[in-house]
Amino acid sequence: MKIVLLGPPGAGKGTQSVVLSREYRLPHISTGDILRESVKKSLPLGLKAKSYMDKGELVPDEIVTGIVIERLKNPDTKKGYILDGFPRTVKQAVDLDEALGKTSGLDMAVYFDTSEKVAIERLSGRRVCKACGFNYHVKNIPPKKADTCDKCGNPLFQRPDDKEATVINRLKVYADQTKPLIEYYKKSGILKEVSGDLGVDELFKVLSKIFRDANLK
Ligand code: AP5
Repeated sequence: MKIVLLGPPGAGKGTQSVVLSREYRLPHISTGDILRESVKKSLPLGLKAKSYMDKGELVPDEIVTGIVIERLKNPDTKKGYILDGFPRTVKQAVDLDEALGKTSGLDMAVYFDTSEKVAIERLSGRRVCKACGFNYHVKNIPPKKADTCDKCGNPLFQRPDDKEATVINRLKVYADQTKPLIEYYKKSGILKEVSGDLGVDELFKVLSKIFRDANLK
């Protein structure tokens, strides 16, 4: 199955992608993760992307689309994939559709309808492992030992773009540039909507049922 997860920052796209990727054995392709990794390694891509990310702005379309189209050439995507955080503008969606062609297009775009209050509360409480990148939340999904990753024992940190001023800008950028994608995928006939406000397990069950009903594997 070839799916796109769509929704505001803090909707839980990354969290569900990890679970779905394990359950359906599909690669989880997150443009945010790819960009952050490039920043960490000071790669040319990271150096270009960092100033946009720090401000909560979108990295230019031509940079991000190129990365995804290259990534989708990898044989591990043959059976399908989960796109998380891409596309994020109508231009990215159009270019992706063009690159995929009519025969191997997307099966579904799932929109995580999430209230702003929930999104802000999740982002302000998110903590990420410095080493393995696993996401926690200080209240909702706390690590067993404070500020320490359950999986690898390394310290947790707050993403610089999860600071309040940047979060406000990210939500505005989402409303201006990404929300129009809901209409775009509705018109394509592949949009499904779920509540992003649900808990992790509840939302996973809802998603699994949607995929089952649509006969996606
Ligand atoms: P990116 O990393 O994609 O950030 P985002 O879309 O803003 O998404 P988030 O990771 O903040 O939210 P999420 O929905 O994945 O929530 P999560 O599961 O982590 O992008 C970062 C930046 O990169 C962008 O600002 C931009 O600059 C650039 N970029 C990336 N893609 C781009 C593109 N295509 N074009 C241009 N620029 C691009 O959960 C959040 C928190 O909530 C966690 O603490 C988690 O533990 C908790 N949580 C999750 N689900 C639940 C739940 N159901 N109940 C309770 N808590 C939950």
